[in-house]
Amino acid sequence: MVKYFSHHYNDINFFRFSVYHFGKNVQSVYAFVVDEVLIDTGQRHNRENVLMALQGKEIEKILLTHHHEDHSGNVNYLMNKFNIPAYAHPKAVDILKKGYKMSPLAKVMNGSVEKAILIPLDERPILTKNHQLFPIFTPGHCVDHYAYHEPNKGYLFSGDLYVADKIKYFGDYESMKEQIISLEKLVALDFDVLFCSHNPKTKNGKERLTSKLNGFKDFYQTVAHLHSKGLTENEIMKEMGRVENHFYKLVTMGKFCGVQMVKSVVRDLE
Ligand SMILES: [Fe+2]
Repeated sequence: MVKYFSHHYNDINFFRFSVYHFGKNVQSVYAFVVDEVLIDTGQRHNRENVLMALQGKEIEKILLTHHHEDHSGNVNYLMNKFNIPAYAHPKAVDILKKGYKMSPLAKVMNGSVEKAILIPLDERPILTKNHQLFPIFTPGHCVDHYAYHEPNKGYLFSGDLYVADKIKYFGDYESMKEQIISLEKLVALDFDVLFCSHNPKTKNGKERLTSKLNGFKDFYQTVAHLHSKGLTENEIMKEMGRVENHFYKLVTMGKFCGVQMVKSVVRDLE
């Protein structure tokens, strides 16, 4: 089952697209409409809802925050249906051109991503009718991540860099060190509204992002310290009081779980 909800804040329309399996919400993601620009495209499984959400909107171009399936799931379809271009970081363009290789589980969860020919985007601002969007290269969650900053309104479209103050799990493709550098870049910007792709905050957005950054810095230092004392990754988890989600670990064959956060730090140290 899929569902969508429509919201707005000031002049920004945004939509939450949720996917349910066995009655449980397994994922919700947001897409944002900034004048004639759509930021991200939801999961393939929500295609009908994405179309409903966009009814009556004059979308002229699409921007992706990154290539993951909950952001890119309908990009090829929407480009063709509305005859509009889509833009993303050059590495995302490359991935989607070749075809994003998803795990079988991710395909079942959200639906697969079709190949697509996007246009590479540099960090020059994108001008819409009433806004300026500055792409900010912010790797760490993945290699091709852009946040979009609207300095005049104090908005930050932060893709997957926030999600929550405290994070419990990482994918094996994530780098905590790079996320710390990216978060430092973002908290130096002027904004209060955090249009996060999974958990938007319409006020005190910078405090939320700073809290996430500080949590990651503490985590990194603690893991580095315990690693220098010779503890294994699992011993570090235990010492830090982190509880593993064995269900996630099992179904993702260890690729998405708690210990991946520790591993992302240990990789830098060895
Ligand atoms: Fe992501």
